[in-house]
Amino acid sequence: MIVSHIVAAGEHNEIGKQNQLLWRLPNDLKFFKNTTWGMPVIMGRKTYESIAGEPLPGRINIVVTQNTGFHPNNEKVRVATSIEQAIVMAGETDCKEVFIAGGGEIYKQSLPLTHRIYLTRVVHSFPEAEIFYPEIRDTEWKRIHHLDFPADEKHAWAYRFETWER
Ligand SMILES: NC(=O)c1ccc[n+]([C@@H]2O[C@H](COP(=O)([O-])OP(=O)(O)OC[C@H]3O[C@@H](n4cnc5c(N)ncnc54)[C@H](OP(=O)(O)O)[C@@H]3O)[C@@H](O)[C@H]2O)c1
Repeated sequence: MIVSHIVAAGEHNEIGKQNQLLWRLPNDLKFFKNTTWGMPVIMGRKTYESIAGEPLPGRINIVVTQNTGFHPNNEKVRVATSIEQAIVMAGETDCKEVFIAGGGEIYKQSLPLTHRIYLTRVVHSFPEAEIFYPEIRDTEWKRIHHLDFPADEKHAWAYRFETWER
Protein backbone atom coordinates (compact mmCIF):
# COMPACT_ATOMS: atom_id res chain seq x y z
CA MET A 1 0.00 0.00 0.00
CA ILE A 2 1.31 3.41 -0.96
CA VAL A 3 1.31 5.93 1.90
CA SER A 4 0.77 9.43 0.53
CA HIS A 5 0.56 12.91 1.88
CA ILE A 6 -1.92 15.29 0.32
CA VAL A 7 -1.36 18.93 1.24
CA ALA A 8 -1.68 22.50 0.04
CA ALA A 9 1.12 24.84 1.13
CA GLY A 10 2.21 28.41 0.50
CA GLU A 11 5.64 29.42 -0.79
CA HIS A 12 7.11 29.07 2.71
CA ASN A 13 5.29 25.80 3.51
CA GLU A 14 2.46 27.62 5.30
CA ILE A 15 -0.60 25.37 5.75
CA GLY A 16 -2.88 26.86 8.41
CA LYS A 17 -3.71 29.23 11.23
CA GLN A 18 -6.23 29.12 14.07
CA ASN A 19 -7.22 25.62 12.98
CA GLN A 20 -8.26 26.84 9.53
CA LEU A 21 -6.81 26.93 6.04
CA LEU A 22 -5.25 30.16 4.72
CA TRP A 23 -7.07 30.28 1.37
CA ARG A 24 -10.08 29.22 -0.58
CA LEU A 25 -9.09 27.41 -3.77
CA PRO A 26 -12.06 25.55 -5.29
CA ASN A 27 -9.89 23.65 -7.78
CA ASP A 28 -7.71 22.35 -4.97
CA LEU A 29 -10.79 21.08 -3.12
CA LYS A 30 -11.84 19.31 -6.32
CA PHE A 31 -8.37 17.83 -6.72
CA PHE A 32 -8.46 16.62 -3.10
CA LYS A 33 -11.87 15.03 -3.56
CA ASN A 34 -11.02 13.35 -6.88
CA THR A 35 -7.68 12.03 -5.63
CA THR A 36 -8.90 10.66 -2.29
CA TRP A 37 -12.39 9.44 -3.28
CA GLY A 38 -13.05 5.87 -2.12
CA MET A 39 -9.76 5.69 -0.22
CA PRO A 40 -8.91 5.86 3.48
CA VAL A 41 -7.95 9.32 4.71
CA ILE A 42 -5.99 9.80 7.94
CA MET A 43 -6.10 13.11 9.80
CA GLY A 44 -5.14 14.54 13.18
CA ARG A 45 -7.85 15.27 15.72
CA LYS A 46 -7.44 19.05 15.23
CA THR A 47 -7.84 18.81 11.46
CA TYR A 48 -10.91 16.64 11.95
CA GLU A 49 -12.38 19.32 14.22
CA SER A 50 -11.42 22.00 11.67
CA ILE A 51 -13.73 20.34 9.13
CA ALA A 52 -16.55 20.82 11.66
CA GLY A 53 -16.21 17.31 13.06
CA GLU A 54 -17.94 15.92 9.96
CA PRO A 55 -16.40 12.99 8.08
CA LEU A 56 -15.37 13.41 4.44
CA PRO A 57 -18.06 11.62 2.41
CA GLY A 58 -17.17 8.63 0.23
CA ARG A 59 -13.95 7.93 2.11
CA ILE A 60 -12.94 5.95 5.18
CA ASN A 61 -12.03 8.61 7.76
CA ILE A 62 -9.43 7.68 10.37
CA VAL A 63 -8.81 10.27 13.09
CA VAL A 64 -5.59 10.11 15.11
CA THR A 65 -5.70 11.15 18.77
CA GLN A 66 -3.91 10.22 21.98
CA ASN A 67 -7.19 10.69 23.84
CA THR A 68 -8.65 7.22 24.37
CA GLY A 69 -11.91 8.89 25.44
CA PHE A 70 -12.36 10.57 22.02
CA HIS A 71 -15.61 9.46 20.40
CA PRO A 72 -16.55 11.22 17.17
CA ASN A 73 -20.29 11.71 16.87
CA ASN A 74 -20.35 9.65 13.70
CA GLU A 75 -20.07 5.87 13.69
CA LYS A 76 -18.40 5.88 10.25
CA VAL A 77 -15.31 7.61 11.64
CA ARG A 78 -12.57 5.31 12.92
CA VAL A 79 -10.19 6.37 15.67
CA ALA A 80 -6.51 5.41 16.01
CA THR A 81 -4.21 6.21 18.91
CA SER A 82 -1.06 6.35 16.76
CA ILE A 83 -0.19 7.13 13.15
CA GLU A 84 1.20 3.61 12.73
CA GLN A 85 -2.09 2.12 13.95
CA ALA A 86 -4.01 4.37 11.55
CA ILE A 87 -1.89 3.11 8.61
CA VAL A 88 -2.51 -0.53 9.67
CA MET A 89 -6.26 0.20 9.85
CA ALA A 90 -6.10 1.69 6.35
CA GLY A 91 -4.22 -1.39 5.09
CA GLU A 92 -6.99 -3.65 6.39
CA THR A 93 -9.35 -2.07 3.84
CA ASP A 94 -7.24 -3.57 0.98
CA CYS A 95 -6.84 -0.17 -0.62
CA LYS A 96 -3.89 0.51 -2.89
CA GLU A 97 -3.15 3.94 -1.38
CA VAL A 98 -3.83 5.74 1.90
CA PHE A 99 -3.90 9.52 2.14
CA ILE A 100 -2.57 11.43 5.12
CA ALA A 101 -4.41 14.76 5.07
CA GLY A 102 -2.75 16.69 7.91
CA GLY A 103 -2.41 18.72 9.84
CA GLY A 104 1.03 19.99 10.72
CA GLU A 105 1.78 17.57 13.57
CA ILE A 106 0.63 14.54 11.62
CA TYR A 107 2.47 15.54 8.42
CA LYS A 108 5.71 16.09 10.33
CA GLN A 109 5.61 12.77 12.19
CA SER A 110 4.49 10.69 9.21
CA LEU A 111 6.81 12.10 6.53
CA PRO A 112 9.42 9.33 7.15
CA LEU A 113 6.67 6.72 6.54
CA THR A 114 5.51 8.36 3.30
CA HIS A 115 6.18 7.22 -0.29
CA ARG A 116 4.47 10.01 -2.24
CA ILE A 117 3.42 13.64 -1.73
CA TYR A 118 0.61 15.38 -3.61
CA LEU A 119 1.47 19.02 -2.99
CA THR A 120 -0.60 21.97 -4.17
CA ARG A 121 1.87 24.84 -4.06
CA VAL A 122 0.04 28.14 -3.60
CA VAL A 123 2.25 30.78 -5.21
CA HIS A 124 2.00 33.35 -2.42
CA SER A 125 3.41 34.04 1.07
CA PHE A 126 1.17 33.95 4.14
CA PRO A 127 3.00 35.68 7.04
CA GLU A 128 -0.01 35.10 9.33
CA ALA A 129 0.50 31.30 9.16
CA GLU A 130 1.02 29.36 12.40
CA ILE A 131 1.20 25.80 11.05
CA PHE A 132 3.75 24.63 8.46
CA TYR A 133 4.48 21.62 6.28
CA PRO A 134 7.97 20.14 6.77
CA GLU A 135 10.69 20.87 4.22
CA ILE A 136 10.73 18.49 1.23
CA ARG A 137 14.45 17.83 0.83
CA ASP A 138 15.51 17.43 -2.79
CA THR A 139 18.23 15.01 -1.67
CA GLU A 140 15.43 12.59 -0.63
CA TRP A 141 12.55 13.53 -2.92
CA LYS A 142 12.12 13.98 -6.66
CA ARG A 143 9.32 15.99 -8.25
CA ILE A 144 7.87 13.67 -10.89
CA HIS A 145 4.94 15.79 -12.11
CA HIS A 146 3.76 19.39 -12.02
CA LEU A 147 0.97 21.40 -13.58
CA ASP A 148 0.65 25.20 -13.24
CA PHE A 149 -2.53 27.26 -13.07
CA PRO A 150 -2.76 31.08 -13.05
CA ALA A 151 -4.87 33.13 -10.64
CA ASP A 152 -8.39 33.75 -11.91
CA GLU A 153 -11.69 35.14 -10.65
CA LYS A 154 -12.18 32.12 -8.33
CA HIS A 155 -8.54 31.72 -7.25
CA ALA A 156 -6.79 34.74 -5.74
CA TRP A 157 -3.33 33.23 -6.33
CA ALA A 158 -1.62 31.07 -8.90
CA TYR A 159 -1.13 27.45 -7.82
CA ARG A 160 0.66 24.33 -8.99
CA PHE A 161 -0.21 20.68 -8.54
CA GLU A 162 3.02 18.76 -7.84
CA THR A 163 3.67 15.07 -7.22
CA TRP A 164 6.83 14.02 -5.36
CA GLU A 165 8.25 10.54 -4.85
CA ARG A 166 11.30 9.24 -3.03
N1 LIG B 1 -3.14 23.16 3.93
C1 LIG B 1 -3.45 21.90 4.10
O1 LIG B 1 -3.34 21.08 3.18
C2 LIG B 1 -3.92 21.44 5.45
C3 LIG B 1 -4.34 20.11 5.63
C4 LIG B 1 -4.78 19.72 6.90
C5 LIG B 1 -4.79 20.63 7.94
N2 LIG B 1 -4.37 21.89 7.72
C6 LIG B 1 -4.34 22.87 8.81
O2 LIG B 1 -3.46 22.39 9.82
C7 LIG B 1 -3.90 22.90 11.07
C8 LIG B 1 -4.04 21.74 12.06
O3 LIG B 1 -2.76 21.14 12.24
P1 LIG B 1 -2.19 20.86 13.72
O4 LIG B 1 -0.74 20.52 13.60
O5 LIG B 1 -2.57 21.99 14.62
O6 LIG B 1 -3.05 19.60 14.23
P2 LIG B 1 -3.28 18.12 13.61
O7 LIG B 1 -1.98 17.57 13.11
O8 LIG B 1 -4.45 18.14 12.69
O9 LIG B 1 -3.79 17.34 14.90
C9 LIG B 1 -2.97 17.28 16.05
C10 LIG B 1 -3.57 16.28 17.00
O10 LIG B 1 -3.40 14.96 16.49
C11 LIG B 1 -3.17 14.06 17.55
N3 LIG B 1 -1.83 13.48 17.39
C12 LIG B 1 -0.70 14.07 16.92
N4 LIG B 1 0.33 13.19 16.91
C13 LIG B 1 -0.18 12.03 17.37
C14 LIG B 1 0.38 10.74 17.58
N5 LIG B 1 1.68 10.47 17.30
N6 LIG B 1 -0.41 9.75 18.08
C15 LIG B 1 -1.72 10.00 18.36
N7 LIG B 1 -2.31 11.19 18.17
C16 LIG B 1 -1.55 12.20 17.69
C17 LIG B 1 -3.28 14.87 18.84
O11 LIG B 1 -4.66 14.82 19.17
P3 LIG B 1 -5.12 14.85 20.73
O12 LIG B 1 -4.74 16.22 21.21
O13 LIG B 1 -6.60 14.62 20.65
O14 LIG B 1 -4.38 13.72 21.41
C18 LIG B 1 -2.90 16.25 18.37
O15 LIG B 1 -3.42 17.28 19.20
C19 LIG B 1 -5.20 23.64 10.82
O16 LIG B 1 -4.93 25.02 10.66
C20 LIG B 1 -5.67 23.06 9.48
O17 LIG B 1 -6.50 23.95 8.77
C21 LIG B 1 -3.94 22.32 6.50
